This record gives sequence, structure tokens and C-alpha cells, in this order.
Amino acid sequence: MSNKKIAFIGGGNMATAIIARMADHWDEHSNIHVLDLNDNKLDKLHNDFGITPHKEIGPWLSEMDCVIFAVKPQQLPEALSDAKEFLKNNFVLSIAAGVKIRDIEKLLGHNRICRVMPNTPVKEGLGVCGIYMASENDEDKKTVEEILSPAGLLIWCSFESMIDSVTAVSGSGPAYVFLFLLALEKAALEFGFTAEQSRQMAIYTVLGSATLAKNSDEPFSELCRKVQSKGGTTIEATKIIEGSGFQEMMLRAMQACRTRAIELGDEFSESVENLK
Ligand SMILES: NC(=O)c1ccc[n+]([C@@H]2O[C@H](COP(=O)([O-])OP(=O)(O)OC[C@H]3O[C@@H](n4cnc5c(N)ncnc54)[C@H](OP(=O)(O)O)[C@@H]3O)[C@@H](O)[C@H]2O)c1
Repeated sequence: MSNKKIAFIGGGNMATAIIARMADHWDEHSNIHVLDLNDNKLDKLHNDFGITPHKEIGPWLSEMDCVIFAVKPQQLPEALSDAKEFLKNNFVLSIAAGVKIRDIEKLLGHNRICRVMPNTPVKEGLGVCGIYMASENDEDKKTVEEILSPAGLLIWCSFESMIDSVTAVSGSGPAYVFLFLLALEKAALEFGFTAEQSRQMAIYTVLGSATLAKNSDEPFSELCRKVQSKGGTTIEATKIIEGSGFQEMMLRAMQACRTRAIELGDEFSESVENLK
């Protein structure tokens, strides 16, 4: 589909998930370059997806249409400063949680930068990626879409601070859903179903409900109402769930998550200041 050359700096969990989806849609896999410090990870990515592996940074980086920094936030300053000498205003994309564009710009010297907050279902092509671009550039926007569309839903943010909200809702969201799955599974076990039955009942209930919602135009509240009838069984459960302040608790949880994302970003800014 695309002839663009893309480099991943860091070939860990999130990079692998994005590459796996790209590989399904890109004709020329050797145009996907990966730099990692770990030989085993590089070999596996090369064998599984046909990417071009790199053990060292070098002039090859300057030929890239997009360079994706997919290292942990604490590894980012070193990765950026190593890459800087070979980057000639190349389009840069960072998936590092909490790291602000102005800090990347300070370390890199230009602002052709995009921030992305993915989540783990990217691995299945059903992820959510919040995206904010520092400079409006149609070609860069197209490049982002070519790379990330196979990964799932793209949410374009008009302000960078919205990325912290994406972190709270969809970035960390899979953890909330897994907790819900755990609650369903535990109840099924308690009611005497086998471990496998309990696991599958939980998974299919969430998967089926999400699919139903995806294929419907009705509000979630209406879909919920349709499962309940006056004097029926479901309403006895939802009365307890709603009565325990479920919505407010979820909001509080996501506010706490967003606050922590902001704090992490500020801590990273301080560490960049201290580097100078
Ligand atoms: N996982 C998630 O759910 C998620 C969600 C949203 C955003 N993110 C963000 O995605 C980024 C990557 O997370 P991850 O879970 O994929 O981490 P990861 O599995 O640790 O992957 C990072 C990889 O980069 C390598 N690396 C470190 N420094 C390098 C350098 N200078 N040059 C080349 N490679 C280098 C690491 O090697 P070593 O292992 O040897 O250090 C590791 O293989 C993070 O910034 C995180 O905030 C993750």
C-alpha cells in the first residue's frame, strides 16, 4: 500500500503490535526498519514480519519518511540525542506516555513531531490511538494514517493536553475492561461453572455487548434499558451497580489516571531542564 520508509527506534511490545498490523497492509515490509539493542527481538521481528533490522543508529535514519520513537519515557532522552545527528527535519512520531512535544523539540531541535497514545488492543487491529500533531502538514497526516489505520480507531486531538485524557480513557482503558472481565469470571466460578466456561462466558459477554453496541446507533443507556424489564432479573443487578455510584467511581478513576499522566509529563520536562 505504501512505499514510505518507516523506522522504529525500539522494537518492544508496542512497536511489535503496530508492526504486526502494518505488515498485514504494507506491500514492502523491508521498508519498515527497526533499531533495537536486543538481538533476539530484532531477529524475531525480521523472521516474523520481514522488517529491516538495525543494531546501530546511522545515516540510514536520514532516509526515513517517519521515525517512530517507541522506547520507554526514561530511555527517550538518550534515544533522541543519539538519533539527532542523523535526523534532517525527518517527521518524528513519539508514543512515549506523558512526554510533551516541546520537550522532544528541545532535545531534537525541530517541531515536525507527532504524539500518539495507543493502547494494547492495537495488537488485534482493534486499538485506539489518540494523535496530536505539532505542525499541520497534510503529507505527515497521511503518513500517520498509513501507519496507524491498520491498528484501529484514530482519534485526532486538537490540543496536546487531550492526549492525557486519551491516556485516561482508552490508553489505560483495557485494564478497566480486564477488571470487569475478572469480576464476571469470579462470579461464574462462584456459581459453579468450570474455569474455562467462566473465562469464555466473561469474554463473550463483553465481546458480544461491544459488538452489539458497535453495530447499533442507539445510545448505550438505551441498549442497557433493553436488557432490563420492570420486575425482571437484570434490573435487580443494575440497581446495585448504579446504586453503588459506579459511573462516579469510573470518572474518579479516570481523573486520577489523567492527573498522573500530567505529573509524569511534568517530571519528564524537569528531567529535560536538568539535562541542559
Ligand atoms: N505498553 C502499553 O500499553 C503502552 C501504551 C501506550 C504507550 N506506550 C508507550 O510505548 C513505549 C514503549 O513501550 P513498550 O511497552 O513497547 O516498551 P518495551 O517493550 O520496553 O520496548 C522498548 C524497546 O526499546 C529498546 N530500547 C531502549 N533504548 C533504546 C535505544 N536507545 N535504541 C533502540 N532501542 C532501545 C528496549 O530495549 P531494552 O529492553 O534492552 O531496554 C526495548 O526493546 C513507552 O514509551 C510507553 O510509554 C505503551
